[in-house]
Amino acid sequence: MKAAFIQTAPVFGDIEANVEGAIKKSLSLGADIVVLPELFSTGYQFRSRAEALKLSEDAKDGLASVRLIETAKKARCHIVAGIAEKAGDRVYNSAVLIGPKGLIAVYRKAHLFWNEKKIFSPGNTPFEVYDIGAARVGMMICFDWIFPEAARTLALKGADIIAHPANLVLPYCPAAMLTRSIENRVFSITANRVGVEERIKGGRLKFIGSSQIVSPTGEVLASVGKSKAAAGVAEIDVKQARDKHITPLNDIFKDRRRGMYLV
Ligand code: ACM
Repeated sequence: MKAAFIQTAPVFGDIEANVEGAIKKSLSLGADIVVLPELFSTGYQFRSRAEALKLSEDAKDGLASVRLIETAKKARCHIVAGIAEKAGDRVYNSAVLIGPKGLIAVYRKAHLFWNEKKIFSPGNTPFEVYDIGAARVGMMICFDWIFPEAARTLALKGADIIAHPANLVLPYCPAAMLTRSIENRVFSITANRVGVEERIKGGRLKFIGSSQIVSPTGEVLASVGKSKAAAGVAEIDVKQARDKHITPLNDIFKDRRRGMYLV
């Protein structure tokens, strides 16, 4: 199957332009699964919870999801994308999994990074895996990467691909995702953004780009640079993620010594 990410340069608050730009790119890739960044439709640095609530959208009926559903139908593909999700008077930093038939699942970010704790409600959805036919897909969002339990849980639940929308600012995540892929023998697709936001005085954030697709053996199958909007595509064989052997005598899941670990 053909897997892809789109690395974006969103304009804060311009949902329509951000969505249309990502859709145009998605339609040009001919991929079976496309991963978009965290908060791809809104931008990242909200000044307050009230502002986030105002820009947030329903996971099913909001403009971003509706347009992505139309796109998935047209391109006969699956899309994972990060949105600010409105749920009553709460706003979650969420990822939606969308297919040709509509919204399949919503994942709400479990591990909120820095000032996100002042804006979003903590995620209340489990790390779950969805069979999209060509692959089994799990979602985690950006800072979830630093908790190995997140990727491990998705892998133990049978994920072939970890779709990882991100707005990375810490420089060491791309390298760490090679390890997440190796230690779980899964493909990972990290879709990041580029650019700078300083909507809060003194709170300048520079996003590091470096989006990538990584194989279960830690090979970088596609990657892009740190400063420009771009896309990456790779042919992947999910069978590679279903063999958990490192040697004929070592299966990384069966060999776990669960009684010896603190969990
Ligand atoms: C992050 O979790 N957006 C760094």
